[in-house]
Amino acid sequence: MNYPVWDVPGVGGPWVIGIISIFHVLIAWFAVGGGIYLPYAERKLYREGREEWLPVLKKHSRMFLVLTGVFGAVSGVGIWFAIGLVQPEATSTLIHNFVFGWAIEWVFFVIELAAAAVYYYTWDRIPRELHLKVGWLYAISSFLTLVIINGILSFMMTPGQAWLNVAGTGTEASQFWAAFFNPTYFPSLFMRTLACLSLAGIYALITYGRVTDESLQATRTEMVRWSAKWLIPMALLLPVGLGWMYVTMEPESREIMSLGFSTIGSGLFTQVTRISMMTVLTTVTVAGAVYFFAFLFPRDLTAGHAFALLGLAAIATSSTEYARETIRKPYVIQEHMYSNSIRMNEVEKYNTEGYLVNSKWNPPQMEPVAKGEAMFRGQCMSCHTRSGYRSMERLLQKRDRKAIDQLLQTLHDFEPDSPYRKYMPPLVGTQDERDSLAVYLEKLSLGKTEPALALNAAR
Ligand code: HEC
Repeated sequence: MNYPVWDVPGVGGPWVIGIISIFHVLIAWFAVGGGIYLPYAERKLYREGREEWLPVLKKHSRMFLVLTGVFGAVSGVGIWFAIGLVQPEATSTLIHNFVFGWAIEWVFFVIELAAAAVYYYTWDRIPRELHLKVGWLYAISSFLTLVIINGILSFMMTPGQAWLNVAGTGTEASQFWAAFFNPTYFPSLFMRTLACLSLAGIYALITYGRVTDESLQATRTEMVRWSAKWLIPMALLLPVGLGWMYVTMEPESREIMSLGFSTIGSGLFTQVTRISMMTVLTTVTVAGAVYFFAFLFPRDLTAGHAFALLGLAAIATSSTEYARETIRKPYVIQEHMYSNSIRMNEVEKYNTEGYLVNSKWNPPQMEPVAKGEAMFRGQCMSCHTRSGYRSMERLLQKRDRKAIDQLLQTLHDFEPDSPYRKYMPPLVGTQDERDSLAVYLEKLSLGKTEPALALNAAR
């Protein structure tokens, strides 16, 4: 471990990333989809002489600029802060591999932001053809940011054998393209593009729902129905995308999708399956609601309806992200780095040399409880908290020292048939270090430890 661990009480670090990401994704996808929607609608306006669409589209482009330029950009930077603090080792690995990818992404991002501002401020001020070109420039550059970030995100799910073969040798960058166009690259891009386009349709409904001028009601109805049509391809193609993802993902991930976590009980549905069903159900509900509210009765659509649709889309997005996270366990980069920043090929070293001596942020001498807490921070806190989300206190279920020792032995041995293998990494470290962890866990199990108490006592 080269980095200190950020201790977020209650929700835990991963949810900090999760909450910011979900917020960001809802806006960033709109930035891409809406970027295509706007010039497409503008083109229709010019070609078919629908002049009455103009004030409505202008209004929409204002919401678009504020949302993407302010909230999208700020939350995007927020993700950088969050991943840098919660997953520094993985972030560093990604940067070392994809630094040029990211550099290019930022170029497109700057073009995108500039184009969005120019687009909004030049309605009626520059020739129509030129204005439309600015719109397409926006659409292309924002789609290219997706094209790039998708390579990096899908890489974490499926780095691909070519990259894994050179991982840890210092020549990872030689496999840049293989890592970038990894096995799930295209299905992910397909799914994300679908999501972007459908969000564009939903956000447009929000603008149209807020159009109250009497004179624009007929136009509004027409535009609502047109936007509803944006969601039809999504509804039809979603199953195709899901199937494509399923056949290209890692066999381990597929296994997790079909097997239950042992701690969840004996229900037929696993956690991931339940969550994935939520994605499908909310998406179908969105499709149904759009059909009834927006397509059949466009006149009655209100901003409230549109916001409700957006809320459903938020649930669909969150559950998809949650499922993706769960499928990825126990890795942050599949088959390479576990969620707690330990690389698969370092396990042996930590077991023989010790984990804490290789962790730069710990004092050399520590008494057992402090040592145990340091082990907990380094190896367990990327998924567990002490008493909040997925809490140790709850999961340990008042186990005594003997039961804890057994648990830790199973985690350490990491036998192929261990029930924990599917979602927990191996516990690494010397016998002495693992004993210290047991001492600390026993305190947690009995509810005797306050956060950071042990570390303070060690000072
Ligand atoms: C990659 C994420 C991850 C890491 C790292 C991780 N766990 Fe877990 N652990 C889980 C998940 C997921 C569950 C299932 C939680 C549930 O059912 O609510 C779990 C369950 C548990 C349980 C309950 C299992 C049972 O049989 O009762 C214990 C105890 C536990 N973890 C201890 C640890 C300890 C100790 C560490 C550190 C050495 C650790 N975990 C590291 C993900 C992780």
